[in-house]
Amino acid sequence: MIETKRLVLREMTDDDLEDFYEIFSADEVGRFIRKMSHADVERYFLKKKQKPKNPHSFAVALKQNNKMIGTCGIKLNAETNVGTLSYVFNPRYWNNGFCTEACKAVIKYAFEVVGMDRIEADCFENNFGPIHILQDKLNMRLDITKTREELNIFTHKITPFKFFAIDKQDYLKNNFLVK
Ligand SMILES: CC(C)(COP(=O)(O)OP(=O)(O)OC[C@H]1O[C@@H](n2cnc3c(N)ncnc32)[C@H](O)[C@@H]1OP(=O)(O)O)[C@@H](O)C(=O)NCCC(=O)NCCS
Repeated sequence: MIETKRLVLREMTDDDLEDFYEIFSADEVGRFIRKMSHADVERYFLKKKQKPKNPHSFAVALKQNNKMIGTCGIKLNAETNVGTLSYVFNPRYWNNGFCTEACKAVIKYAFEVVGMDRIEADCFENNFGPIHILQDKLNMRLDITKTREELNIFTHKITPFKFFAIDKQDYLKNNFLVK
């Protein structure tokens, strides 16, 4: 479990199912990530029980009432010791700094507790909110060595991705997240 000023990053439980549905059924989220029906969410929760847990993946809940307002986590490649950051938040709570607060805490945990060497993240090139967060708030650098494009299921257009990364040395040098 990780605590920040306003949030608790904890394991997801069955009690979070309706909050999870609220997030992943939202039209705003569906512009960049596949939308889920209630049946999809129920299947996902069932399947989740049969799979090994990612210990670095968290439900993000408000401290004040334990409502899950997002997910934030890092998938670690054990061979390279590089993690991939991902996050999704309930649109009702957007633009309150919650994603930034959760990502900072998860990055700190990944470098300082788990000991990862590098954290990467990507998003569609026209997903400007995450680009601003990754680049300007989390100090991740644009990585132009990588390219990928994928069908955006909302616009039906093949859309390129942008890649970002931060190395442990840069994180420690800048110390910007340690506060
Ligand atoms: C990306 C996302 C997690 C942001 O969550 P959030 O809690 O609103 O994030 P924060 O409040 O910490 O920061 C949002 C910042 O982005 C800015 N922003 C939002 N939309 C923007 C846009 N279209 N263009 C530029 N900046 C934008 C906000 O102004 C804010 O910056 P500021 O504090 O400097 O004003 C949320 O939009 C989301 O869940 N999106 C759908 C899924 C997704 O895109 N996931 C990530 C990529 S796969």
